[in-house]
Amino acid sequence: MAMLASNECAYRPLPQVVEAARSVISQSNRYPDPSYSLLRRALSDRYGLPTDQIALGNGSCDLLLAAGEALLEPGAEVVYAWPAFSVYPQLAATTGAREIPVPLDSEARHDLDAMLGEVTVATRLVLICNPNNPTSTSLGLEQVEAFLECLPHNVCVILDEAYCEFALILGDTYASVELLRRWPNLVLLRTFSKVYGLAGLRAGYALCGTPEFRRAVDQLRQPFHLNIAAQAAATEALKHQDVVDQRVTLTLAERSTMVNGVRALGLWVAESDANFIWLKLPEAEDPAAAEAEIARGLVQRGVLVRAGTSLGEPGALRVTVGNDAENDRFVAALAALI
Ligand SMILES: Cc1ncc(COP(=O)(O)O)c(C=O)c1O
Repeated sequence: MAMLASNECAYRPLPQVVEAARSVISQSNRYPDPSYSLLRRALSDRYGLPTDQIALGNGSCDLLLAAGEALLEPGAEVVYAWPAFSVYPQLAATTGAREIPVPLDSEARHDLDAMLGEVTVATRLVLICNPNNPTSTSLGLEQVEAFLECLPHNVCVILDEAYCEFALILGDTYASVELLRRWPNLVLLRTFSKVYGLAGLRAGYALCGTPEFRRAVDQLRQPFHLNIAAQAAATEALKHQDVVDQRVTLTLAERSTMVNGVRALGLWVAESDANFIWLKLPEAEDPAAAEAEIARGLVQRGVLVRAGTSLGEPGALRVTVGNDAENDRFVAALAALI
């Protein structure tokens, strides 16, 4: 089965990364280093941020949910675009806060003006997914900065950058870090699950504008939430940025072939800045039923993708860019089905 449903990395972890994880398993009788010093230091060196402004999580979802718990409560509001990452509604659901989902614009991008219009005295948290999952589109940092300029400074903004390594529009992965120096209310959320290919080990991090955010999320989680294999693998993976760059280049080339293949079928595809694409299926009387039928047909042809209904928009598909053979199989199967 071509697994194109979860925006994972098409490439396996490097042998050195696997070895780093394997080499610590024999010390599993001991608890992990509770301050995760090696990984924290490696991230601090890479991004030039003090270690106390780096929060680590059991995947970045762990940090997202902890941020919700730390910042939200009944009466508070959280603003985010929709459709965006499917976990965002959970932040309101688990805390009793009011969720304010703001529709994307006609190009499936965040509508920052509309989001700003929803900010009230009750707003505690704004989530911006950049590039956006599921629509793959992104915003330039100048747009994010203009948004931050207009926002009250007591509102925390989490810029979810799970796919930032793929986003050429962002320049490089250091550019948004510069924003932290100007905006203490900003947090950049990142993960080892995507380009680093470590989704199964669970490691994510947040680069925070101030140490307060890190302290707040750390207080809420059980000790030792990052296991020793995940710490070792993530620390090693950071040493191989050349491979990250190669993977990005390969993925973008594959993405371009995939997008061209789908557009050649006459379908609309969003401008992707990530390792997945978002496409609209031909109009149908019942978009959810038509989409489900196509998703089933794809499975029968050995391709698993994510149908739009489960992501907030019936009549669409989110497809991860896989390897050459998987992508070809997807385009051929879609062509046979529509
Ligand atoms: C936008 C976005 N943020 C965060 C995550 C969470 O990633 P993880 O918990 O694996 O770090 C994902 C995973 O798909 C995502 O798409």
